[in-house]
Amino acid sequence: MHKSFDLFFVSSNSHKYHEAKNILDLFGINLGFLKSDLKEIQSNSLHDIAIAKARDAFSKFKKPLLIEDDGLFIDSIAGFPGPYSSYVFKTIGNKGILNLVKNNRNSKFVSIITYCDKNYLESFVGKLNGKISKSQKGKGWGYDPIFIPNNSKKTFAEMNNKNELSHRYKALKKFSKWYLNK
Ligand code: IMP
Repeated sequence: MHKSFDLFFVSSNSHKYHEAKNILDLFGINLGFLKSDLKEIQSNSLHDIAIAKARDAFSKFKKPLLIEDDGLFIDSIAGFPGPYSSYVFKTIGNKGILNLVKNNRNSKFVSIITYCDKNYLESFVGKLNGKISKSQKGKGWGYDPIFIPNNSKKTFAEMNNKNELSHRYKALKKFSKWYLNK
């Protein structure tokens, strides 16, 4: 049943998988999904978290796979929530973030995509600068309703072309170039 997939995206988050699948389809890479909660280490480095997640995933599934770790870094609050974005989303959520951000609304989304198979452990970074909106706009998952990419007037949640410019797109584009030439 899994034979037609080139590799698997391991995550508990099906939104991330669907976006990654749409993006990799553009590069001719067929991505399967293994829904799984992976061990997440406490660290200030998204890169270290991603490597630990990829090792955990490969030890479980022993197949070529991708994992992703993301962070939303907000300038006026010292890069918070950064590596703690998932915990912060679950606790204070978008409403809590909007209460913390006042004048300087600059922020960036960072995605680390890590590929692991029996020979390789490689990471790819995608960064997208933007602003935190003044209120939640549009229906989307996670921080989508409060993140406005630079050069856009719409939040990720209001856009229909998020997958053509997101932090995830940028990291996966780098990955695809490497993967297709390896
Ligand atoms: P993690 O990589 O699962 O630790 O995710 C970090 C946090 O950022 C989670 O709360 C995600 O929901 C959120 N997040 C990651 N990427 C996106 C995105 O593209 N849109 C909205 N929220 C995101």
